[in-house]
Amino acid sequence: MSRIVLGDCLAVLPTLPDRAVDFVLTDPPYLVNYRERNGRRIANDTNDAWLTPAFEQMHRVLRDDALCVSFYGWSRVDRFFSAWRAAGFRAVGHIVFAKRYPSTARFLRYQHEQAYLLAKGQPALPAEPLPDVLPWTYSGNRLHPTQKPVECLVPLIEAFCPLGGIVLDPFAGSGSTCVAARQTGRRFLGIELDANYHAVAADRLNLMPTERRAA
Ligand SMILES: C[S@@+](CC[C@H](N)C(=O)[O-])C[C@H]1O[C@@H](n2cnc3c(N)ncnc32)[C@H](O)[C@@H]1O
Repeated sequence: MSRIVLGDCLAVLPTLPDRAVDFVLTDPPYLVNYRERNGRRIANDTNDAWLTPAFEQMHRVLRDDALCVSFYGWSRVDRFFSAWRAAGFRAVGHIVFAKRYPSTARFLRYQHEQAYLLAKGQPALPAEPLPDVLPWTYSGNRLHPTQKPVECLVPLIEAFCPLGGIVLDPFAGSGSTCVAARQTGRRFLGIELDANYHAVAADRLNLMPTERRAA
């Protein structure tokens, strides 16, 4: 059954059996103390104590010879990379999403989002590999301050998760990964710590009470 669980992924993931999911697509806090002009913030964006344990659990619950796509904060790439390596993942690709607009401007106009493609074991090569530069669409961030556009997630799920398989996102936010999974005929397991965003995600997916349970 697809569901979005309200809770800390460090408590929820250990309750899952080994090799229970087919693909991980996740957008964890970028460790940048992000704060919107209207004051909205991201939980756990100021400390990285969760980073390695969370990816260790993602690696454990992912089936053998499968893939994980993780967005990350480019200015904290060293911390993300150490956590992925410590968890047992191997980087097999890097995806750049080109924006038509800059998020900010300082030394550069910061105009891309980024994610690593990480392997557990030896996944099979796709028949038609995706390009590693993909277009970005502005989501509007109406439901979440860092809401990812569903249309940018769909090709990743289609490429890296078998039809009917389970997509895991332990940092689900407003549930964009779960929406993309449903749209593409995959099942999903989302986990979200913040009760407001958990409710937004569950409403967005029109989930029944049993599909939106607390941990
Ligand atoms: C970058 S946002 C994800 C946004 C999401 N991709 C979307 O489109 O809405 C990261 C999310 O992880 C959640 N989070 C932070 N620490 C967490 C934890 N330990 N367990 C579960 N969720 C957590 C935050 O509350 C936040 O909503």
